[in-house]
Amino acid sequence: MMAELFAAVEIISAKRDRQELSDPQIDWVIDAYVRGVVADEQMSALLMAILLNGMNSREISRWTDAMINSGERMNWSALDKPTVDKHSTGGVGDKITLPLAPLVAACGAAVPQLSGRGLGHTGGTLDKIESIPGWRASLTNSEMLKVLQDCGAVICAAGSGLAPADKKLYALRDVTGTVPAIPLIASSIMSKKIAEGTSALILDVKTGNGAFMSEPERAKELASAMVELGKRAGVTTRALVTAMDVPLGLTAGNALEVRESVEVLAGGGPADVVELTLLLAREMLDAAGVNGKDPEAALKDGSAMDHWRRMVKSQGGDPDAPLPIAREKKVITAQSDGLISSMNALQVGISAWRLGAGRERQGEKVQAGAGIEIHAKPGALVKKGDPIFTLHTDEAARFERAEAALDGAVVIGTSVAESLPLVITKIV
Ligand code: URA
Repeated sequence: MMAELFAAVEIISAKRDRQELSDPQIDWVIDAYVRGVVADEQMSALLMAILLNGMNSREISRWTDAMINSGERMNWSALDKPTVDKHSTGGVGDKITLPLAPLVAACGAAVPQLSGRGLGHTGGTLDKIESIPGWRASLTNSEMLKVLQDCGAVICAAGSGLAPADKKLYALRDVTGTVPAIPLIASSIMSKKIAEGTSALILDVKTGNGAFMSEPERAKELASAMVELGKRAGVTTRALVTAMDVPLGLTAGNALEVRESVEVLAGGGPADVVELTLLLAREMLDAAGVNGKDPEAALKDGSAMDHWRRMVKSQGGDPDAPLPIAREKKVITAQSDGLISSMNALQVGISAWRLGAGRERQGEKVQAGAGIEIHAKPGALVKKGDPIFTLHTDEAARFERAEAALDGAVVIGTSVAESLPLVITKIV
């Protein structure tokens, strides 16, 4: 047996005492953790020391590289088009990836999009598309390349070979209160995106009550850290910090969000979803150096929809099959006459989750039809008794807790409360 280069306790103590970790220490601790030489309790202590004492940009960059090097790095040089991807830090009703990937493909770039499942109140892209009958999230690398070649875009699950250190670390962070640390979030997201092999990347960092980073200043800090990591790795990376204080669009829930995305691809859909989709599409095409078709034209002329249908079919899905519908429905109405002043995104997200759209533990099944339809948003005039939400679930017993989550979520008054602008800042 080879002697180990370091002892985990030395590295934990160094970070506890606010010292910088050296490159060899970082390389070793990640590798030794994946090999099982560093135990979960030791890595937990180190993660907590990082959360409390931080890491400088050299340490974050090395930590990210060590996570990338724990697995494979994908390569799309066989394609004849530049690759570009988008990552969102997640929010309520954030279904943008669904219309965006085929739209950008229709405009001439290739989109290799490795996505995740939802945990907690923010949904996951794979859970949403899996509501399409037959659609398969797991592809081999060669299947992924084939879908990209044939359709210009692929949305699928990251295979087990991609940044395996992150899989192990993320599961540990989830149960040790060490998720909300900027160095750990930035390295976790960027290790997967860099290993995915995209040449350009647009980050949509959400902020506001329904986002993971509710404070705009913290969201900007995270965005800057991720842009720096991308650039260091040679990926053209830009970030938009965008609003998540009000739900995006008029649906939150898996099949409900697919339906809304298809409306956008058909040239309709809610204005905020269309606006953000077009904005991100233009950023992606610009970052990839592609000046093909204008995205607005691709939504209107049906070419984005054609790419969506091809992409769904090539992963076993039937784009014409009816989407699942929940067995039970309940309408929530306005308590008084007036103008909807505000709508709390976090409360809507928690309610959709309690209806069965999300999961509490990794590996749990979600209900395809569960979620919330929103009938009136801030700025709308309503009368007492008008519908505001329709709750959908397969189990009526879930209504009570879902309704409780919405308590006070909608304020009806005489004016619209100040809300965040759609784009708060752009970091290049
Ligand atoms: N998403 C990730 O992939 N990693 C994090 O740490 C947080 C969100």
